Amino acid sequence: MEQREPLLFKMFPNLKDKVPWIPLLTNFPTPVERLIELEKHFNFHKGQLFIKRDDKNHQIYGGNKLRKFEFIFGNVINKKKKKAIVTSGGIGTNHGLACVALCNNLNPPLKCDLFLFNQPLTWHVQRSLFLYDYFGANLHLSKTDVSTFIKTLFFWIFHRKYDFILPGGSPLFGRGTPLGIVGFIEAILELSEQIKKGQIPEPDVIFVAGGTTGTAAGLVAGCKLLSLKTKVYAVAVYRSFLANVSNLTRNANKALKYLSKRDKSFPKIKISQNDFKLIEGYLGSGYGIKTIKSQNAVDIVFDLEGKEKGFNLDTTYTGKAMAAMFDFIKQEENKSKKVLFWNTYNSNDLDIYLKKTNFKYKNLPKGFHKFFEEVSFQCWQITDCQKEIREDCPAYLNHEYRFWKVTDCLLDDQKQKKAFTELNSVIKLEDA
Ligand SMILES: Cc1ncc(COP(=O)(O)O)c(C=O)c1O
Repeated sequence: MEQREPLLFKMFPNLKDKVPWIPLLTNFPTPVERLIELEKHFNFHKGQLFIKRDDKNHQIYGGNKLRKFEFIFGNVINKKKKKAIVTSGGIGTNHGLACVALCNNLNPPLKCDLFLFNQPLTWHVQRSLFLYDYFGANLHLSKTDVSTFIKTLFFWIFHRKYDFILPGGSPLFGRGTPLGIVGFIEAILELSEQIKKGQIPEPDVIFVAGGTTGTAAGLVAGCKLLSLKTKVYAVAVYRSFLANVSNLTRNANKALKYLSKRDKSFPKIKISQNDFKLIEGYLGSGYGIKTIKSQNAVDIVFDLEGKEKGFNLDTTYTGKAMAAMFDFIKQEENKSKKVLFWNTYNSNDLDIYLKKTNFKYKNLPKGFHKFFEEVSFQCWQITDCQKEIREDCPAYLNHEYRFWKVTDCLLDDQKQKKAFTELNSVIKLEDA
């Protein structure tokens, strides 16, 4: 089989020996698909809507992290020869999950320690905690993002065989490697090939979720590198100390500078704040909060497109970005635009691993038990639904966990009412 090589190295051969990279994606180029049903739903007849299916770019855990990791882990493994990784994030961190799933799948596997901080408790968080443990992470808990970061830093200072991957795989306040961002410059080269092949017209706009902004920064830098007319709209889904215009600009420029330092023929381009848009107003009162708009976007997309095509959005990142895209395409002046939604969330089935944990939360370090003892998010947990019923039921393990939306429940009325009442009291949707 022909060895895959980044398009970036084909375009700038001098980068090949100077930029670390290992092949990790198992499905590439990721398809671009037309979202016809959504176009109809929003009367978007003159425009076109597409989705970039990064959610399936890896056989175990897809999403935006794997693109970053091809370059980051290239450095960790080939250059630094490290044997272990430490990183951090919220208790439901997708970055942490992608990291430990990958570390576990490498040959030989790498050890992985995750330092986690509190975020709003949901089923997504609970299942992530089970999965970190399933893939073999050592878990550590702190209260806030800042205290977690400091603890991670100290751990790393005293454990030199570990490499420290910054939260989200992006530089923090300008410090740290821009290699993750380079992964998304590469992603734009991939998109550009698809444009050349006529699989998608050059988009006017790309919508993407912005947390640490590394993903969006790479897309912005890639578009400018290739002189595309496409404007990236990064939707802020984290607090403004990270998801802000100057951080995104700095991240994009850091990656471009990194590449131009390693290849004199690389164009000297600079990103300014006019090269992209940062969209605010969809976060709600904080990171991980479920908002009405985000939940609606998740539901509409699943009903009209995801169910058929095999993907789900989430309420923390992609649901908020999609909600912003909906508001954009509703506006008259945008009705004839070509819009691409970059799906950064994994859509592989993780329940196959989840079931193997038998939901034994007591296997986790003691500090995490409270996240399971406070509240249950699944109807079958609340009603003690028998195995024979639940295993055939579409509500079982349903990740949006509103059983009344997905099934004609076989349980008696009283049990259904109990589950409905309890779940309605724990699923808090913020009016944002
Ligand atoms: C599903 C998803 N989308 C988007 C992002 C944001 O990416 P970035 O931190 O590069 O802005 C993340 C980060 O964890 C994520 O998990």
